[in-house]
Amino acid sequence: MTTELHDIAHKMVADGKGILAADESSGTIKKRFDTINVESTEDNRRDYREMLFRADDAMKNCISGVILFDETLRQKAADGTPLVQLISDAGAVPGIKVDQGAKDMVGRPGEKNTEGLDGLGARMAEYHALGARFAKWRSVITIADDGRPSWSCIKANAHGLARYAVICQANGIVPIVEPEVLMDGPDAKHDIDSCYRVTEWALKTLYDELYEANVDLEGTILKPNMIVPGQHSGTSASVDEVAEKTVKCLKACVPSAVPGIAFLSGGQSDELATAHLSAMNATYDMPWKLTFSYGRALQAAALKAWSGKTENVAAGQQAFTHRAKMNGLAAMGTYKADLEKAA
Ligand code: 13P
Repeated sequence: MTTELHDIAHKMVADGKGILAADESSGTIKKRFDTINVESTEDNRRDYREMLFRADDAMKNCISGVILFDETLRQKAADGTPLVQLISDAGAVPGIKVDQGAKDMVGRPGEKNTEGLDGLGARMAEYHALGARFAKWRSVITIADDGRPSWSCIKANAHGLARYAVICQANGIVPIVEPEVLMDGPDAKHDIDSCYRVTEWALKTLYDELYEANVDLEGTILKPNMIVPGQHSGTSASVDEVAEKTVKCLKACVPSAVPGIAFLSGGQSDELATAHLSAMNATYDMPWKLTFSYGRALQAAALKAWSGKTENVAAGQQAFTHRAKMNGLAAMGTYKADLEKAA
């Protein structure tokens, strides 16, 4: 069992590959579809995701795993093939988002605590039977001038992530642990150094909790934010500064037993998310693999190119394949911005 978990985790961070986060909840995918004026029906969601999973070149060469929402894990392609099978046939690992959302934290106005632990063991066993081999649980942390985040928020979310992770492993599923310090939250006025301090605090607390919960770190993947200034901070940071501070923070907090770290994009532009990842891999020696687990930064261009029309499927796949290739290069530290123009 343990070796199996380690093997899955290593496969998820295979050289030159990363994870496609296609696990938007019903509410989030509706927001994405609203931007292209497409109604969020079950068939439209299926068609959109089928388009991505059938982009063969991207899926076979650049994508190691795909995170799905509950509905998608159970859905079939238009020809009746389970979507999970499209993913496995491409050589990627199917995964499942299992948290039930970041909910208002009672007693801590303006903060969130992620829910979903009740009955998780039973759900996990079903997800394994449906083909999922890894899972994701996201907690969110807001930085604000009024003292947020509180210790209570940091601690409760780290504890939830650790309970989730150990339940995953007991069911043969690799946990992605995702403590996201928001860059685009309601009060995203913080500078890059605030992001560093809070991320360091969240990660140190998380690894204490994972230890106390008896989680096998070699069978886990970390999905963190990069160290960036808040979106409304009025400050900016160079690609080199983001790379330097992110690697420094991760080295201070993440044990080398962890096989891989796969970043979220968190509202960064597509090209910056790629450039940051590439700079880290090109410049630093690190004990773990460093790759992507992007949602928006992998899908935004594809969503727009598709715009809900069958005749645009090839264009959507082309846009997705381009981003996947750029990020595959970034995972090796060999991305160059002029490749964007060349394409
Ligand atoms: P973004 O890359 O759009 O931040 O999404 C990644 C993700 O899975 C958040 O949980």
